[in-house]
Amino acid sequence: MLTLRKFVAPEFVFGQGALSLVGRQAAGLGVRRALVVVDPGLFAFAWPDKVRESLEQAGVDVRIFSAFSSNPRDTEVMAGVGIFVEQACDALVALGGGSAMDCAKAIGIASANRLHILKFEGVDNVPRPGPPLVCVPTTAGTGAEVSQFAAITDAARKHKVSIASKTLIPDAALIDPEVTTSLPSDITAQSGLDALTHAMEAYVSNAHGPLTDLLAEEAIRLIHRHLLRAVVAPEDLEARGGMLLASLYAGMAFSNAILGAVHAMSHSLGGLLDLPHGQCNAILLDHVVAYNYEAAAERYDQIGRLLGAAIDAQAPEAERKAAVLATLRAFKASVGLSMGLSDVGVSPECLADLAARAATDPCLLTNPRPCGVAEIETIYEKACQSGI
Ligand SMILES: [Fe+2]
Repeated sequence: MLTLRKFVAPEFVFGQGALSLVGRQAAGLGVRRALVVVDPGLFAFAWPDKVRESLEQAGVDVRIFSAFSSNPRDTEVMAGVGIFVEQACDALVALGGGSAMDCAKAIGIASANRLHILKFEGVDNVPRPGPPLVCVPTTAGTGAEVSQFAAITDAARKHKVSIASKTLIPDAALIDPEVTTSLPSDITAQSGLDALTHAMEAYVSNAHGPLTDLLAEEAIRLIHRHLLRAVVAPEDLEARGGMLLASLYAGMAFSNAILGAVHAMSHSLGGLLDLPHGQCNAILLDHVVAYNYEAAAERYDQIGRLLGAAIDAQAPEAERKAAVLATLRAFKASVGLSMGLSDVGVSPECLADLAARAATDPCLLTNPRPCGVAEIETIYEKACQSGI
């Protein structure tokens, strides 16, 4: 309880209509020309135009960048830096999910420091902060709008690089539930499981503290209450708002308590095989809980309760563990995420390489149970099968 803990979070505005404040926020930061980093899938919707209108009405010039992948690559980031400099932009606005926000964060620090983005790999390796950054998340899960992290794929090595620095915290986040109504059900479910993974990994992390516990517990409660509703009824604003709030809480929890083995293993899958982040987490989550359980049994029991299980603290540990796992698997199944790694194209020949890559990921440092290459490979093997 009295262990030293620091907590960082940006300014954010939460609620319906938050997106329309982007112009006012940018103008308040003294922005003259913003590079708006937009998820290319969003041009089918009205949101990019709304962002442009709001910025232009506030006297901010707009340039658009959307040439990046769902797992943004270093080469794409550096192309964005080229446009940012060439167009004399002085700020970034991100509109999209984790890929747009991570890409915008990366363009910011690489342009401010005149360095290649891969030079910032690791913790606290960013000498100068980037230009002002305003984030408008369109998915409920990533937490990038409040976090001090970005993940960028080194295209040559096929390796997802984690960058952690206070300079990656946006200047403002505009969190608007209405924007997420355009998300299809499968992405809603995957993003929701990403948020659940953030909350769970933060809750059992070696670096957890009272503030992150509070946020993680409430995030899990909200996800249990709202995710299925948001998947089944995409227009349900109350459910969308509940999930976006959960994502915000989980984002602040993991940004400060850090993550664990699920994210280490998921980064490896995203880098080598370019698989979607939320789906990787969803597949791996219960397998990592099965491995970690004994190292944080009471905390996992509490997670089980927040997901609706009746877990008796006096019951034998093996019984409680089985109840937590069954609850988690049933929750995944309820939102259509019971597939295994084999179902998304991971072949057994890749597992040794994936495990070696995951073993170097900094997220492992806060996993409650130590985890070497052999253990990671075994977890991958178990996660290959579907329906368990
Ligand atoms: Fe994540």
